[in-house]
Amino acid sequence: MRVLLNAIMSEVLKDRIESLHRELQDLHAANAPEIEALRQKYLSKKGLVSQLFDEFKLFPKEEKAQWGAPLNRLKQEFEARITELREQCQENADSQVKTDLTRTPDPIGLGTRHPLSLVREQIIDIFSRIGFTVADGPEVEDDKHVFGMLNFAPEHPARDMQDTFFIEKEEGVQKPTDILLRTHTSSVQTRVMTAWAKSLNNASDASSSLRVLCPGRVFRNEAISARAHCFFHQVEGLYVAKNVSFADLRQTLLYFAKEMFGPETQIRLRPSYFPFTEPSAEMDISCDLCGGKGCAFCKGTGWVEILGCGMVDPNVLESCGIDSKVYSGFAFGLGVERIANLKYRVKDLRLFSENDVRFLQQFESC
Ligand code: PHE
Repeated sequence: MRVLLNAIMSEVLKDRIESLHRELQDLHAANAPEIEALRQKYLSKKGLVSQLFDEFKLFPKEEKAQWGAPLNRLKQEFEARITELREQCQENADSQVKTDLTRTPDPIGLGTRHPLSLVREQIIDIFSRIGFTVADGPEVEDDKHVFGMLNFAPEHPARDMQDTFFIEKEEGVQKPTDILLRTHTSSVQTRVMTAWAKSLNNASDASSSLRVLCPGRVFRNEAISARAHCFFHQVEGLYVAKNVSFADLRQTLLYFAKEMFGPETQIRLRPSYFPFTEPSAEMDISCDLCGGKGCAFCKGTGWVEILGCGMVDPNVLESCGIDSKVYSGFAFGLGVERIANLKYRVKDLRLFSENDVRFLQQFESC
């Protein structure tokens, strides 16, 4: 009886080992929780493999010898398969990360400074060495600060819609308005001069002088092309004190040109006209491409224009509250894009505002 029972038990155990072997061949899992479920099903204390060990304990000694090894092998094979599934799952997770399109690209590229920022900072640095400070002002301005106080006649063409962007007070209604986008940063100069005049009156400080740079974005109603844009950047400068002369203006600008474009650089001042300066001039620098001999870049003249300047018109000083019989001053205004073009030979103005990284990366080492 006992022998028969042992034989049946052995038979049952053999069947179950074989059936578990078959299950093992087909053991699959898609993710970590599924693998854990399999581990519990087969290998936990109450798992199917562990149950066989419990039954095995009931076997008589002589039978045990026969089943110990296959049972251990079965357990090891299940353990090995579970480990294998875990590794596969990890690999899949890794490869999924590589194709995760929402991930920040690796390596994370460092940004570079924009060429216009580089040039603006360089201009400010050069003038700050001779005592100029920086002033800021609004981009949305009124007619008074952009034109009126700067001696523009009421009918001056710059006030025309063709040149200036006016802000509509009511959406869609184009009524005459005196709110506009500044067309130059001279508007900041009127604000600074007015504030300075007030401080003068308070302190009655006759030895005081005003040296200020007004960098910023300006807007003009122009069709966008390689050579023109509806906005660009300026740095305007202003010096007001007693006995400021045209010679002071010239020396200041010569110093700037040599610092910016190299010690060989020469300047030339040509008579010009601006409502807010008298006399007015435009300044050229010797072409640094051909050394002044004449080339395609300077159109054979040996000179390239870089800025407008002049002595502050007495009317402007007076409109800001400064006594034009006591004080005089000079002003100049340069386009940052223009200087950047000369320094870096950027052929198309639009590149400055398109934010194409291929363009911007070229200034990495500047
Ligand atoms: N405001 C002038 C412009 O925008 C530049 C300028 C400034 C000229 C100061 C003379 C003096 O064109």
